[in-house]
Amino acid sequence: MQLFEITGGNRLRGTVPISGAKNAALPIMAAAMMVEGETVLRNVPDLVDVRQMQELLAALGVRCERDSEGTMRLRVEDEHNTHAEYKLVSKMRASVCVMGPLLAKRRRAQVSMPGGCAIGDRPIDMHINGLRALGADYELVGGDVLLRAKGLKGAEVFLGGPFGSSVTATANVLMAAVLAEGRTLIECAACEPEIVDLADFLNACGARIKGQGTPQLTIEGVKSLEGTEHRVIPDRIEAGTFMMAAAITNGDLELEGARLDHMRAVVDRLRSVGVIVEQAEKGAAVSSSRRLEPVQITTQPYPGYPTDLQAQSMALLSLADGNSIITEKIFPDRFLHVAELNRMGARLHKQGPTVIVEGVKRFVGADVMASDLRASAALVLAGLIAKGTTRVHRVYHIDRGYEHIESKLTAVGAKIRRLAE
Ligand code: EPZ
Repeated sequence: MQLFEITGGNRLRGTVPISGAKNAALPIMAAAMMVEGETVLRNVPDLVDVRQMQELLAALGVRCERDSEGTMRLRVEDEHNTHAEYKLVSKMRASVCVMGPLLAKRRRAQVSMPGGCAIGDRPIDMHINGLRALGADYELVGGDVLLRAKGLKGAEVFLGGPFGSSVTATANVLMAAVLAEGRTLIECAACEPEIVDLADFLNACGARIKGQGTPQLTIEGVKSLEGTEHRVIPDRIEAGTFMMAAAITNGDLELEGARLDHMRAVVDRLRSVGVIVEQAEKGAAVSSSRRLEPVQITTQPYPGYPTDLQAQSMALLSLADGNSIITEKIFPDRFLHVAELNRMGARLHKQGPTVIVEGVKRFVGADVMASDLRASAALVLAGLIAKGTTRVHRVYHIDRGYEHIESKLTAVGAKIRRLAE
């Protein structure tokens, strides 16, 4: 096991290259299972989750190689296996994205039901109901979801849930509908840029999808898909995390490849806090040189404020000049970072899905425990500005979704190193 040791107090300055988006790359890799011939993906990040998906696809007969430039080549070589086993799926929830492609292309999908998650209750009922609406039979067999269909048929599918739309349920139903007979209408579809990227990839393979980026998707089923080349969009959550790193250290960063048009809710809040965020030649320029203003943040489905930046925002607003209010509307229990930040001197008061963030003068370095991907990013941000040394334990969480974060931070002036426990 490894930890990060961070010496706080260094302003960040310079350029950070933003990697490809994890949450776009994973469903697109799964979609390649439906494609004849070779798929070439560019800008695929080097992440633990990407390697997990490669391992799962290999078990499902897909040859999948990534080179050091971030180019991945995928080709289906054997279609007999339709079982995504517990030992693979339990390592990564996004494995559920193979369900739609398996069902659509191989007429059977046996996928281990994902277990508990640090960020809260995450059922997959919307995935199952959406695929059943396209004609699949469903059974729960020994902890596995078993879906079978002689042939999928287009249908009207409502994908609204207790917290609004679902990103990966939209991905699964969209992918299945592409090879279904006839037209499918998905209502209350997720509008995330990662869903748009998936739809654009599928259309480049010959699919007929309209409405991506809106709550209503229309899909005309096609017989088959042909391999193509596709560049994965930049990671808006990684970009948002580095924006907060610039703000929390009163630094000055250029985020190469960041797309501000994917981050309007985030940019709006950061500007209200007093952070300068501007379009730059190669991406975005972020700087801050003053005391931070308190604000209110409520997480929502896209284009609302992303839940995947909630923890990082809490670290930033802990240093604001006054009290902020953060309400988590997607994963109401996503607060394991609260106790750890309080160990570093924050004053966070949790009341149900809301946290009152009382502004403090500074963080103090401490040993803290990462519990999930975004919580660990928040602890790193706090460590960057804390008085003294912070040790963030269990950094395997952060490797799941941030490509070489310590070298990117070191390159712009942070004092951070990866050590064995
Ligand atoms: C995606 O997860 C992302 N993961 C998550 O990012 C992100 O936090 C989440 O969307 C919300 O933006 C990937 O794209 C791989 P949801 P997903 O289904 O699709 C409820 C990260 O840090 N729900 O949109 O699993 C659910 O419990 C990760 O990169 C049901 O009730 O999230 C939640 O409250 C963490 N039934 C809400 O909907 C269902 O069948 C939204 O979840 C499905 C979801």
